[in-house]
Amino acid sequence: MSRYAEVYAAWKADPQGFWLEAARAIDWVEPPTAAFDAGAGTYGRWFPDAVCNTAHNCLDRHVAAGRADQPALIYDSPVTGTKAVYTYAELLAKVEAIATILIDRGVVKGDRVIVYMPMIPEALMAMLACARIGAIHSVVFGGFAASELAVRIDDAAPTAVITASCGIEPSRVVPYKPLLDTAIELARHKPATCLILQRPQLAAELIPGRDLDLAAAMAAVAGRRVPPVPLAATDPLYILYTSGTTGQPKGVVRDNGGHMVALAWSMTNHYGIAPGEVFWAASDVGWVVGHSYIVYAPLLIGATTVVYEGKPVGTPDAGAFWRMVEEYRIAALFTAPTALRAVKKEDPEGRLALDYDRSSMRTLFLAGERADPDTVKWAEEKLGVPVVDHWWQTETGWAIAGNPVGLGLLPVKHGSPTVPMPGYAVEILDDAGHAVPAGKLGNIVIRLPLPPACLPTLWNADDRFRRAYLEEFSGYYKTADAGFVDDDGYLFIMSRTDDIINVAGHRLSTGGMEEVLAGHPDVAECAVIGIADALKGQAPCGFVVLKAGVDRPRAEIEKELVARIRDKIGPVAAFKLAITVERLPKTRSGKILRGTMRQIADGETVRMPATIDDPAALEEIRAAVAARGLGG
Ligand code: COA
Ligand code: AMP
Repeated sequence: MSRYAEVYAAWKADPQGFWLEAARAIDWVEPPTAAFDAGAGTYGRWFPDAVCNTAHNCLDRHVAAGRADQPALIYDSPVTGTKAVYTYAELLAKVEAIATILIDRGVVKGDRVIVYMPMIPEALMAMLACARIGAIHSVVFGGFAASELAVRIDDAAPTAVITASCGIEPSRVVPYKPLLDTAIELARHKPATCLILQRPQLAAELIPGRDLDLAAAMAAVAGRRVPPVPLAATDPLYILYTSGTTGQPKGVVRDNGGHMVALAWSMTNHYGIAPGEVFWAASDVGWVVGHSYIVYAPLLIGATTVVYEGKPVGTPDAGAFWRMVEEYRIAALFTAPTALRAVKKEDPEGRLALDYDRSSMRTLFLAGERADPDTVKWAEEKLGVPVVDHWWQTETGWAIAGNPVGLGLLPVKHGSPTVPMPGYAVEILDDAGHAVPAGKLGNIVIRLPLPPACLPTLWNADDRFRRAYLEEFSGYYKTADAGFVDDDGYLFIMSRTDDIINVAGHRLSTGGMEEVLAGHPDVAECAVIGIADALKGQAPCGFVVLKAGVDRPRAEIEKELVARIRDKIGPVAAFKLAITVERLPKTRSGKILRGTMRQIADGETVRMPATIDDPAALEEIRAAVAARGLGG
């Protein structure tokens, strides 16, 4: 029997008492006397009078409690042929070294530090070093282009940047340092210090005065102790930029206290992981999943985390995940459905899974995009463990809905991430803000306040936060996801209500891509939509109308447009399809019919919009996508 219903009811009956009790799992400098201050911030703040330090909770207290020699971090890098294990004591020493360097370079509490790194242990060390001294880290995913990095540099105005000379993709070495230099050139704000980890695959040239060799600097200060700085629970731990509805990303702010409380609760009750066990989130520290479940949550409870610099397939094969499970006795794996689809494509019979001892693995968790029932069923059958979908967002930092393994698994319904977690009062409203009955699709909203760990605001943008999330449905946070609740209270997440698409578990704004396409000198107007993709879930597809008089070959311009998105947003956008058309289908009031274009490209039945200006425009789109082999 699952204890879920009892625990959710206990939260509902006394939310403040529930979170104060959960807060006992954390070591506080000053423990909270109150859980929530409804009058503070944009919708209230958690643990308003508490004082704490996240790095202390992730490291020092475990060392003090006898875990000094327990592995804290396992690094496995098939792309470089490297493996390493850091104990809690060793990880603490490395974190103190980076903290020392930052302090010596003048970084103080409240300063921002951008971390732009591949999946290597130093990325986590850098994040924890910032947490230790109260600097606010902002990690930027390595697959973004220099101009995206520049936008983040200007918004966060970092004192320092921590990076590596290169990242390694299976197909190529990605030089990070030139990307950073270009970004700093493009940005108005100029960080004073850049710490560069020189990797043997490609050394970077350092700029004297500004750049420091990270490894050499760490060796030089090894042994120097840096006490964790006492911080208000409400002080920011990090800013993580995520796609908004324009090219300007949203700086999601995370606090220290509430974040620790919710994450520690989730490790035990949602993921069912005990201290000392090995937990592997096969994501990247550039995403929220990486922040919460590669870095902070496993370390907060004294578990062992895994940093994997490789892919689910091709490094070297589709057995990579199962090899890791056997080698490190992994208790639970957390990945995105797209990674499983990649494995399934290469090894449909799941033969490679049979080559390894997976007896340590109790659960497979999925998130980041809709978990399609076929993939879930395949994984259940091939792996023989519960496959648990859960739904969350960068904004929330942990699951809004899930199947709480630690409280006892609820029956799995394929296609549903199960039920709301304590802290989240989830409702489905129509566009006018009225509750809709069970089974009916609507806007998924969360009644305020949001629980601990959810964003209190956007960086330097309280008004944008209110406009984007709180204004449309008064008293609620708008998730911008659409879905329904069934008669058993199970949630189903169906689509976004904004322009966000989800490509290989990566969140991207089609509006942002349209801004980039529109900047091409030959483009008059454009529309980017997400079309169904068997591997990546969705793939972006851009339709462009050229300016009158442009007579260059269309194929040439389309190639330039693909290159332009890669150059301005980055390879992560996976933008491969630009299609020139004579005009875009529009309503009589001039609104581009993106939804209808998507239906055509996906080969779905098209409902002719009543307000369409000229139905013939749809036939032109149909012909254009058919010429590319799309549209069914
Ligand atoms: N630095 C630089 N480039 C990167 C990068 C990084 N950290 N991560 C990805 N890229 C590049 C890739 O090399 C690829 O470039 P290409 O166009 O030259 O091939 C491009 O960005 C797109 O990457 P991706 O969408 O990840 O596709 P892929 O073909 O490399 O791999 C999967 C496909 C399915 C195996 C892969 O997407 C995957 O494992 N996804 C998991 C998703 C995930 O973890 N999401 C986090 C939320 S839980
Ligand atoms: P991100 O902020 O990158 O984590 O992306 C969040 C978005 O991804 C959500 O708003 C959803 O649209 C989608 N998403 C994440 N997890 C799931 C899931 N389990 N099921 C359906 N959609 C999901």
